[in-house]
Amino acid sequence: MSDMSAARPQRHVAGPVPLLEAPRVAPSILSADFGRLREQVAEVLAAGARVIHCDVMDGHFVPPITLGPNVVAALREQARDGGAMLDVHLMIDRPERQIAEFARAGADIITIHAESTPHLHYTLAQIRDAGALAGLAINPGTPVAAFDELADHVDVALCMTVNPGWGGQEFIAGSVEKVARLRALLPDNVALEVDGGIDADTAPRCAGAGATLFVAGSHVFGRPDPGAAYAEIAAAVGDPGR
Ligand code: DX5
Ligand code: ZN
Repeated sequence: MSDMSAARPQRHVAGPVPLLEAPRVAPSILSADFGRLREQVAEVLAAGARVIHCDVMDGHFVPPITLGPNVVAALREQARDGGAMLDVHLMIDRPERQIAEFARAGADIITIHAESTPHLHYTLAQIRDAGALAGLAINPGTPVAAFDELADHVDVALCMTVNPGWGGQEFIAGSVEKVARLRALLPDNVALEVDGGIDADTAPRCAGAGATLFVAGSHVFGRPDPGAAYAEIAAAVGDPGR
């Protein structure tokens, strides 16, 4: 933590992010075919996706190991060219050690877990200072009060609607009510993201409770036509698809 007291440039610009003013479905590449990653991302971009969700897992915070900054960097140009944001979800212990690397790789949103470090305030500031939007995620077992001291320091609040670590799990039904409680305590300009078991049925239920950003992995890339699958969920929540 040697740089905690170092002067940091204030590069974060507070205020609305035009893309996130509308509801957005964010396809999660976790369920994509990594051998054809560019092609798969191209399919959802062509269908109108403007947020691409990248799940980073370290084998500690959650058992699986997935991808690192090199994969985020590999998608940077394609996302930029498609007018899309890269939404990087860090399911890793002590994320404060990795923020600079993911920001350099091109992450537009960097989300850390409330359960992953004792230095949440510091790490969220690090993310904004690196020029990205700061996200804070909570696991299903973590109370919404985790946001109490931090609501002014986040741009995106992520409510996990399954336990983190794997795609293809069943949506936890009680999440809808939790999303509503989160919406009530967060400032209006904070995007409210749901992640896990999101499909054309659960997404609008979460939207009704106040969610605005909908991560979908297996229900997009696990389908034969990811573009059409994205479009179906997008239509269900009013994602403009452009
Ligand atoms: C799970 C990840 C999710 C995952 C969701 O830990 O954070 O982003 O891709 O997968 P589905 O949509 O299949 O539940
Ligand atoms: Zn995720």
